Amino acid sequence: MHNNFLDFSEKRILITGAGSGIGKATALYLSSINAKLLLIDINEETLMETHKSCNENCDFLLVDLSDTHGFNDVVANKLKSFGSLNGLVHVAGIPYVSPLKTLKTDSVERVLRINTIAALELAKIFTKHKMYSNNNPSIVFISSVYGLVGSAANVAYAMSKSALHGITKSLAIELAPKNIRINCVAPGFIKTQMLNDVSGAFDNEYNDRLNQLHPLGLGEAEDIAYGITYLLSDMSKWVTGSILSIDGGFTSQ
Ligand SMILES: NC(=O)c1ccc[n+]([C@@H]2O[C@H](COP(=O)([O-])OP(=O)(O)OC[C@H]3O[C@@H](n4cnc5c(N)ncnc54)[C@H](O)[C@@H]3O)[C@@H](O)[C@H]2O)c1
Repeated sequence: MHNNFLDFSEKRILITGAGSGIGKATALYLSSINAKLLLIDINEETLMETHKSCNENCDFLLVDLSDTHGFNDVVANKLKSFGSLNGLVHVAGIPYVSPLKTLKTDSVERVLRINTIAALELAKIFTKHKMYSNNNPSIVFISSVYGLVGSAANVAYAMSKSALHGITKSLAIELAPKNIRINCVAPGFIKTQMLNDVSGAFDNEYNDRLNQLHPLGLGEAEDIAYGITYLLSDMSKWVTGSILSIDGGFTSQ
């Protein structure tokens, strides 16, 4: 039996959204267990900060994932020098809080491009010949409790995240013959920049209810990073097509 599942020194992993919050926490933890990382974000300053804190084998790429047609070649070219991947984690995402009556189609499309279509495009790159390693390749997407349960004024975000669940399950079946695993983590509310940004749009009553919605309280970015690490590791070699709720009990109620 393998007894050192958390030695990632043989693993090359691409992480999007690495400049902040969950993506940053995941990058720092994977770097600390010696993974070789390709860090992706749109924000140069925060991306460089994460890169500076990671081990010397890590590299970075400044990419706008909303540019669906533009980013594929850039990422694929970078991977030619970086090496074939054992893991891909699509963490980058944006919120969009708006009730139906003020919903703007352009904004909905942007949310979908970053949160959902980018996941599909990155999976397409990953699964190309020579882009992935045969050593337990694993893809992890990040959805949300709002991919599982409803929430007022969150229809576009919920749509983008529940679509990831469909993608996860269908790709798990399609890619099983190649031994590529696809799973999704569905976080509850995590104390990150994104939560700061959206909590201003919630009314006071909802902000007060946030703690009650999480029987274990709000989460830390590391709580999600550890779940992602499990799904990338050889410990989860028989896990595919699953949606892992890490939400302090939010969806158990
Ligand atoms: N924070 C929460 O409470 C929470 C809860 C459930 C799910 N999530 C999901 O977790 C993921 C990470 O959230 P977070 O809280 O760490 O957010 P965050 O805002 O702290 O980090 C998101 C990162 O994605 C990057 N990004 C945004 N648009 C991009 C683009 N077009 N191209 C490349 N990079 C881009 C940002 O620059 C940022 O570094 C998101 O997908 C989010 O939907 C977060």
